Amino acid sequence: MQPLLLLLLTCTNQVLGQNPAIKVILANKGLQYGSHVGTDWLHEKILSMNVPDVTGGVKVGVGTVRYVLDRMSVSQCDVPEPSVNFSEGNQVKTVINGLSIALRGNWHTKFSFMSDRGSFELAVFNLDLTSLVELGSDDKGHLSILSKTCSAGIGKAEINFHGGASWIFKPFVKFFKNRVKALIETQICPIVDEHIADVEQHLTNMQVSYRINCALVLEIPLINPPHINSSDLGLDLKGEFYNFESPKEPPFKALAFDLPRADGFMLSLGMSEFSFNSAAYAYYAAGQLHITVTDKMIPPTSPLRLNTSSFGPFIPQLPKFFPNMLMELEVYARETPMFSFLPDEMSLKVPGAIKAVAIQPNGTRAPLFKLNADGLFSGQVYISEGKLRGLMKLKNFTLTLESSEIGTFQTAALENGMKMAMTIAVLTPLNAKLKEGIPLPSIHDILLVNSVLKIQQGFVSIASDLEVSSPLRGHFEEGFVCPYKTSGAYL
Ligand SMILES: *[C@@H]1O[C@H](CO)[C@@H](O)[C@H](O)[C@H]1NC(C)=O
Ligand SMILES: *[C@@H]1O[C@H](CO)[C@@H](O)[C@H](O)[C@H]1NC(C)=O
Ligand SMILES: *[C@@H]1O[C@H](CO)[C@@H](O)[C@H](O)[C@H]1NC(C)=O
Ligand SMILES: *[C@@H]1O[C@H](CO)[C@@H](O)[C@H](O)[C@H]1NC(C)=O
Ligand SMILES: *[C@@H]1O[C@H](CO)[C@@H](O)[C@H](O)[C@H]1NC(C)=O
Repeated sequence: MQPLLLLLLTCTNQVLGQNPAIKVILANKGLQYGSHVGTDWLHEKILSMNVPDVTGGVKVGVGTVRYVLDRMSVSQCDVPEPSVNFSEGNQVKTVINGLSIALRGNWHTKFSFMSDRGSFELAVFNLDLTSLVELGSDDKGHLSILSKTCSAGIGKAEINFHGGASWIFKPFVKFFKNRVKALIETQICPIVDEHIADVEQHLTNMQVSYRINCALVLEIPLINPPHINSSDLGLDLKGEFYNFESPKEPPFKALAFDLPRADGFMLSLGMSEFSFNSAAYAYYAAGQLHITVTDKMIPPTSPLRLNTSSFGPFIPQLPKFFPNMLMELEVYARETPMFSFLPDEMSLKVPGAIKAVAIQPNGTRAPLFKLNADGLFSGQVYISEGKLRGLMKLKNFTLTLESSEIGTFQTAALENGMKMAMTIAVLTPLNAKLKEGIPLPSIHDILLVNSVLKIQQGFVSIASDLEVSSPLRGHFEEGFVCPYKTSGAYL
């Protein structure tokens, strides 16, 4: 029964399996940078290491000399660059050869009623450490890390005693040396394992869902286990946006895409059309792609006002039926706006609609007409000087009369007027912002540097190097002050 169930579950999983919408590849160069950052961390950790006291006794002819080595602290350490490699079986192998540590401490001896004390220095040379960890994923889509093997060995130790009747120790030096050497040898791997367990705990507690803004949540659990080969580590993330208040699955699916490895960079990141479109859907399905345009919102300098007289040249009968009245336009998306990515070009298709009403002197809104407004925006985006930049243009815009309470009219002139209005109101400020550049986000104090963005067939790729700005700590929570929402517009 159980194997059958397991098989069934495995199969179902595969049938339902969603394609990742975000892929991340950490190249060997990235691993080397990570290990470099880790070396500094290890250096700090060893310097602040707690060394337990050593107690024992040495049998001499007429009794036992009891000794205690205490108050030991690391006074110096030299951590050479480790060799870190991706290896078979989703593993990462770290080898450190030639680590040295200098310790300082006090000694106390007791033999019968005689006691003595002093200080000592201990140097450990050529400590070799080999650690093998395995990466995987848990059922919630967290990355997981497990220490598979760890071994440590010490090449040579030197010890010097000061104070007291130090000469008495001369015969025991060799003995202490081996005792302390063995002690340190047995301490290293538990420290390493403890750290790996810490990292695992941190990964387990990590969010796989991030609030992006007031409206959006991004879900990024792993949807496949990580895959490692000799040159890189690949992660497949869900990469789907949901509406914070009313999460719903969109009526379209993530398509598979192949993220090419960018040579010479630490990291490659790919985000498919689906990811962008799920964000658009999250706004759309929650009714948040919706805005009511009133005359007050039109800049005072605009010659065209939102009133029936001003619309006379476009719709001659309008001022006759509704003379000199203010108008309101309800502008909304008829369907989900969809992004599509072609080599070096992105486009956004917006199926919109405009409902116009006249505001009568007694305040009653009279419906006038409904237009379908289909816009196609296209443009280029790229990263330069660490900022996202680009240029968008309106490629096509058509207005068609869907229904009218005031009889039919030609839309061509209105279409031109709206094209101009859209360029002034939307594209000009957007392009100004894209020209100035939008700073790239940093994630957990990791900055993307030397980044290259490329629009490819069906996805956007970013090849980048990384820079850790400060020690890695798990803080990402940011406070949002979301406006209390009465109508559904976040445009
Ligand atoms: C492991 O990585 C080091 C660089 O850190 C490299 O010199 C060495 O050849 C690699 N070993 C294997 C087995 O790939
Ligand atoms: C590692 O795997 C990827 C596919 O996941 C492949 O493109 C790449 O060539 C592989 N590298 C090696 C050295 O096998
Ligand atoms: C309508 O707009 C015209 C300018 O096109 C302006 O002169 C007129 O005062 C406006 N009427 C109302 C009622 O706002
Ligand atoms: C407002 O005025 C219009 C036209 O003058 C009229 O048809 C409508 O019934 C009025 N509405 C109310 C609530 O008085
Ligand atoms: C603009 O879009 C309309 C449909 O919305 C289409 O008929 C027309 O061919 C398009 N024009 C261009 C130049 O793409």
